[in-house]
Amino acid sequence: MTAFAPLQNDTFLRACLRQRTEYTPVWLMRQAGRFLPEYRALRARVGSFLDLVSQVELATEVALMPMERFGLDAAILFSDILVIPEAMGLGLSFLAEEGPRLAQPVQDDAAVAGLHVPDLEKLRHVLDTVRATRIALAGKAPLIGFAGSPWTLACYMVEGSGSTDFRTARTMLYRRPDLLNRVLRVNADTVASFLNAQIEAGAQAVMLFDSWGGVLSGAAYEEFDLSPLRRVLSRLHREYDGVRIPRIVFAKGAGNRLQHLSKLDCDVIGLDWTVDLQEARAVLGPTKALQGNLDPLALLAKPAVVEAEASKVLRAFGPVHMGVGEGATHIFNLGHGVHPHTPPEHVAALVDAVHGHSKSLRRAAAR
Ligand code: CP3
Repeated sequence: MTAFAPLQNDTFLRACLRQRTEYTPVWLMRQAGRFLPEYRALRARVGSFLDLVSQVELATEVALMPMERFGLDAAILFSDILVIPEAMGLGLSFLAEEGPRLAQPVQDDAAVAGLHVPDLEKLRHVLDTVRATRIALAGKAPLIGFAGSPWTLACYMVEGSGSTDFRTARTMLYRRPDLLNRVLRVNADTVASFLNAQIEAGAQAVMLFDSWGGVLSGAAYEEFDLSPLRRVLSRLHREYDGVRIPRIVFAKGAGNRLQHLSKLDCDVIGLDWTVDLQEARAVLGPTKALQGNLDPLALLAKPAVVEAEASKVLRAFGPVHMGVGEGATHIFNLGHGVHPHTPPEHVAALVDAVHGHSKSLRRAAAR
């Protein structure tokens, strides 16, 4: 086993576990991506996004790019949720301007019967990237591993591409719930083993991206989204090497389902920008840390506006826990990924504003 460098900044991990921090930690979904000119240059040189993801040294370099530019409190593995369907043999490609495409969508009895938990060796490059990224970070900030939720993966696997409403997947839900349930079970078992392998490779927190729960009806959300998600959560390593591994669930579009989320066996709930943080805190605050939720498009306005909007999000969350033990904590993030047109200087302004404002709010509260 590699002895990793000691962690110098545990602010993010402490906030995940609802412990006091000196300031509000911040990281951004898609912080390593197209808004960075150095990312675009590397991708152009290498050829494609999938080439970047599949080569350990390059994926590691990309994950480190935003860490070198900004004072972020966490790094995230550079990969994609769709490496799982790729490992299952569904044939992943990314078409320019069109997003992901799976050559063999899972739409009938035969395709569903042929679906199995893949050998984790097929995902070896991702696990190697986790280890290499953790080493390259050298303890500067913790590393987040991730996977898609079983339902979000099923959306792409059944549809075969992105969509605004995933109608093929939702139709299967009503016509052939038996087929969908088998897909979800295979996904849940795959996601649980993959995340555990990421933890063993060096991930210090894990995040489940549930990007598409919002397209489901209330009853369907319970059966086809939360139930397989609970199966994943129940299997994850709670600690590794004697250290707690916080679990984050990003629940996009689930602002009207906070009660359900409060019962999940996870430490942090990630919220999109449509959710009122005060309301979310009233329901989730007693048991979960909250992560979010600045509108990513706010970053397209000038830095003074970015700072003001950051301050609004901090104030919407309200006073954070400052005593011993556990209490309400906030991890600053966007409500979804960084928009590719975001000027990097605006991200720098955001990170500084979150750190600065959250320190002054704590000082004012202590007085
Ligand atoms: O920086 C990070 O956040 C870590 C890496 C990461 C990527 N994708 C890299 C990526 C993470 C955590 C993801 C998650 C992901 N991927 C989700 C869940 C979060 C969400 O956005 O709702 C989903 C649904 C996907 C699937 C996916 N990957 C789509 C739909 C697309 C195309 C649309 C888009 O935003 O580009 C991708 C491509 C992708 N994944 C890129 C990156 C950096 C862009 C690749 C490029 O064009 O260079």
